[in-house]
Amino acid sequence: MTSSAQATATHRRAVTKAASLTAVGGILFGYDTGVIGGVLPNISDDFTLDTPFLQGTVVSILLVGAAVGALVAGRVADTLGRRRAIIATSLVFVVGLLLSIVAPAFWVLLLSRFLIGVGVGSASFVVPVYIGEIAPPERRGALVSLNQLSVTMGILVSQLVAYFLAGSGDWRISVGLALLPAVVLGLGMIREPESPAWLVRQGRDEDARAVLRTLRDSEEAITEEIDDIRGTATEEEKGQQRSLLAPKLRPALMLGVTLAIVQQITGVNTVIYFAPTVLENAGLGPQAALLALLVVGLTNVVMTIVAIKVIDRVGRRALLIWGMSGMVLGLAGLAVAFLFDIAGAGAIATTVVLAFYVGSFAVSLGPVVWLLISEIFPLAVRGRASSVATMANWVANFVVAVSYLSIISAIGETATFGVYAVITVLSLVYVVKAVPETKNRSLADIERELSPAS
Ligand code: BGC
Repeated sequence: MTSSAQATATHRRAVTKAASLTAVGGILFGYDTGVIGGVLPNISDDFTLDTPFLQGTVVSILLVGAAVGALVAGRVADTLGRRRAIIATSLVFVVGLLLSIVAPAFWVLLLSRFLIGVGVGSASFVVPVYIGEIAPPERRGALVSLNQLSVTMGILVSQLVAYFLAGSGDWRISVGLALLPAVVLGLGMIREPESPAWLVRQGRDEDARAVLRTLRDSEEAITEEIDDIRGTATEEEKGQQRSLLAPKLRPALMLGVTLAIVQQITGVNTVIYFAPTVLENAGLGPQAALLALLVVGLTNVVMTIVAIKVIDRVGRRALLIWGMSGMVLGLAGLAVAFLFDIAGAGAIATTVVLAFYVGSFAVSLGPVVWLLISEIFPLAVRGRASSVATMANWVANFVVAVSYLSIISAIGETATFGVYAVITVLSLVYVVKAVPETKNRSLADIERELSPAS
């Protein structure tokens, strides 16, 4: 290997390493949201939670915490930096998880679930933002989507844990397993570099240059990148308001918030959180239902890998359009399956349709929404703006999760999935009209298009 090829490989590896380590935040996101379904019966026994309301509160308080965490952490990421925000996030996880493990009373359990939620909400946007800022444009889609891959792996592991530990009743072990990734993330981040874009924004160009020397190949490319970032930063300084309410930010904010909501109201978590219930209604025994859920979880992981392979070549828009079309078919298929009595349609057929739907999500709204949220906001407010979009995602997640079972009991499965299908069609129309192609463009370039300095 020539020395320049060697340097390229070293820089490539440094970027991949930092991105993979940060993506451990995604494992925490996926595991902590996924594990609760499996351990809820044991928790309910321990604390004698005898009403659906109390059980629902244990599940949904995490989502409330996530909305709060997203909002608070946005400011931390803009003022103290992305790296410190990630380290703080991992500390919140550790405290929340320890409280869960020891929780002697119900209110402590609720507090711990809330804190874990704060960690989840914060990680869900700061990890993509950090990776997006250290990645070179031509690999940004794949690297940022490593976070979504971790989310899907976290969910899958939580399902496996539920499958194997279900009988043991020891929910504290299942919940506590997340301590491992939380500690790895916090300690690992101490040695990773700060985001160069954030450093430039702070006027620390030389520090940014030092970081970029470990991540990029040539001095020219580094100078160009710093100039590019500084260009957007100084336009901002020239009297532009640095407020989230600034008119120039509106189109990007509107796009980010809408996409965040679309990701949830098209129904993915009705499957991720409730598939065992759906499948048991379809006549499967609890173990078989959990096994079917594993098939769905595995499809989610595999199709996310497919998305990562192609996202920087085929682009964000194509993935969204094809994947969301698949989701519409999957939802319509579910509506039809329930119409003709699901037990008759067959448990295998239902599992296949569920997997098709989740697989279609996994190549589209799953990775692409988080990626776009990390790409479309101007540097000056990137942390805060993406945290607002992220908060909208968690609020929408909460609304879907708490309303799903009541909607099903009010209008039945066929109508419910039919409504989700219609919402997905409308969302697809919006995506076709509103989403810009961001592949292979620098973040500064995207900023100039979406939030031009007037
Ligand atoms: C979504 C989560 C969802 C997960 C499923 C994420 O992108 O934000 O709500 O549970 O994907 O893989």
